[in-house]
Amino acid sequence: MKRIGILTSGGDAPGMNAAIRAVTRTALANGIEVCGIRYGYAGLVAGDIFQMTSETVADKISRGGTFLYSARFPEFKEEEVQLKGIEQLKKHGIDALVVIGGDGSYHGALKLTRHGYNAIGLPGSIDNDIPYTDYTIGFDTACNTAMEAIDKIRDTATSHQRVFVVNVMGRDCGDIAMHVGVATGADAIVIPEEPYDIKEIAENLKQGFANGKKHGIVVLAEGVMDAEKFKDELLKYGDFDARANVLGHMQRGGSPTMRDRVVASEMGAYAVKLLLEGKGGLAVGMENNKLTHHDILDLFDAKHHGNYALYSLNKDLAK
Ligand code: F6P
Repeated sequence: MKRIGILTSGGDAPGMNAAIRAVTRTALANGIEVCGIRYGYAGLVAGDIFQMTSETVADKISRGGTFLYSARFPEFKEEEVQLKGIEQLKKHGIDALVVIGGDGSYHGALKLTRHGYNAIGLPGSIDNDIPYTDYTIGFDTACNTAMEAIDKIRDTATSHQRVFVVNVMGRDCGDIAMHVGVATGADAIVIPEEPYDIKEIAENLKQGFANGKKHGIVVLAEGVMDAEKFKDELLKYGDFDARANVLGHMQRGGSPTMRDRVVASEMGAYAVKLLLEGKGGLAVGMENNKLTHHDILDLFDAKHHGNYALYSLNKDLAK
């Protein structure tokens, strides 16, 4: 193996730059050249590829987003599009690849491995929704960003004795909502993985005001329903004032936290180690604080399991 490529794909996540840096520096230290591929699989197919040096990744570890840029590129499912990507890999003398992203990115990595180019996937997503890893790069930063935003919302909620339904990201996964809900002392957490009763939530919020609480915070995972709709449903049973708020893409931005930088660095170095061993078609994970890897195929049949004890804990603490 003389030269590897690296790309980031799907929704960006804070810490991706730290992972790119770790992959690059580890490869260079092992005498392997590194090519950066801009705009994910779209850039691979278009040949937006450049040689990276240790300097290229200097001063990037603290930056949010991905300096290689990202794209969603469902076209890469097509065999003929994959072959165009392979042509580019050949043209640039790239023997293997590291792909940082979520589910869609892993599909691409598996396809490339089957075409004879070992590819390793790193879990880069704020959602923490990938099976066989307790952690995805970007999750901690996104949770902290959402937590800080909700702390601010709570100030105005208190001043006006209002309920706020705050929609947080996570696609179909409730991990951001659960962690942020506990961290902000939410009155209710609503996630796709657990049943909920809007009437009961409204009754609890009413009881909270009756007990002297000055605000109500409902942290709603985006995979459940629209925040405005949830707020309207809530108001059918509650006599309080309420507002809906969608935190949105701000959760994907910002300088990565220490945890995201460290995990990204560990995973990036580990991915290169796997490639050096001649392995491909693997997804890197962090399980029980240890670096692990699994066949990408295994991930497609598996489901991510969040720490649902947090959901129950919040119910007890919100009383
Ligand atoms: O997967 C990351 C994520 O931010 C999800 O939480 C969200 O549902 C989705 O991406 C938004 O995608 P887009 O940036 O394409 O609107």
